[in-house]
Amino acid sequence: MNDIFLRACRGEKVEYTPVWLMRQAGRYLPQYQAVRANIDFLTLCKTPELAAEVTIQPVDILGVDAAILFSDILIPVEAMGIQLVFSDKDGPVLSEPIRNKSAVDRLIIPDAEVDMPFILETIKILREKLQNKVPLIGFSGAPFTLATYMIEGGGSKNFIHTKKMMFQSDRLFHYLMEKLTVTVVLYLSAQVKAGAQALQIFDTWAGMLSPVDYKNYVLPYVRKIISELKRDGLPIIYFANNCAGILHEVKKTGADVIGIDWRLDIADAIKKLGRKMIVQGNLDPCALFLSEEEIEERVKDILWKGEAARSHIFNLGHGILPEIPVKNAIALVEAVHKLSHS
Ligand code: CP3
Repeated sequence: MNDIFLRACRGEKVEYTPVWLMRQAGRYLPQYQAVRANIDFLTLCKTPELAAEVTIQPVDILGVDAAILFSDILIPVEAMGIQLVFSDKDGPVLSEPIRNKSAVDRLIIPDAEVDMPFILETIKILREKLQNKVPLIGFSGAPFTLATYMIEGGGSKNFIHTKKMMFQSDRLFHYLMEKLTVTVVLYLSAQVKAGAQALQIFDTWAGMLSPVDYKNYVLPYVRKIISELKRDGLPIIYFANNCAGILHEVKKTGADVIGIDWRLDIADAIKKLGRKMIVQGNLDPCALFLSEEEIEERVKDILWKGEAARSHIFNLGHGILPEIPVKNAIALVEAVHKLSHS
């Protein structure tokens, strides 16, 4: 198996820089669209054979060094008892936003084996099928990011309801975060047991908080999750989008690898985190609209800067966009491999 990604996550010396892309299975791939043409997104997530098929598509098409389970961060939110629909126009919509104590009381702490068996089945199929290829990353949303969807009822611009709960009903907010923390630990442990070989925790909206609020309302829960999962000994990646202002706090999460978005120079991120850290990132997803030569230049710059860290895993600074030409994504992966070969 190509285990260069896992070795880089452990800080070992590797022959070249491993690369994978957040959201690498998705709509920019015609092969994904072909599968999606006959099935809605949530059903696809819950159909192990097909979910495994689309997980493997980018491994074969792009030549990335890791696969990431095809699912969504909101799957466990649905399992907690919230009705969820994905609309093509508005993205995820949760039927009843969580805004008071009785709503939090009603949330179930799911047992993955019973409530999300399709996830574990997908992982098992994938380990079978990926045997001689690349490692499989399992993932979860972080409690804060999941809380924002639950409290807002979907996506949001200013997170008014979330912050209102934080600031006006502090105890209720912590109560919700505690329930989510237990859910995430159980969910990720079940993924490990089923065969996930590394874990990524997505905190897409953490960067919407001031550093002091991140420290008080988010960091303790992320730390708890990571310390509990560390017992399994798998590499844990923590990706907080928009992390520039909170990086000194993100450093305290205990994650093995810190994902960096594209808004800050990866050299500055490494300086702030310290050279002992392992970093992942951080090409602007829109840089994939550049020409192949220009993509190479950007890759060179990030690779060169990444050498200052203990280890570097190449990725985009956030998910790949549906509008990206596949040939540019292939060119990116080739450039990382070619330019980082020692
Ligand atoms: O990375 C991968 O290839 C694995 C699959 C994956 C998806 N979502 C598939 C998906 C992963 C890891 C996610 C995580 C996810 N989902 C996050 C965190 C990462 C991030 O991008 O910040 C968030 C915030 C979500 C919630 C979500 N899911 C939104 C807001 C949307 C709608 C916007 C959009 O991009 O469509 C989704 C839908 C979604 N999740 C799609 C895919 C492939 C598109 C669904 C479709 O086929 O129509």
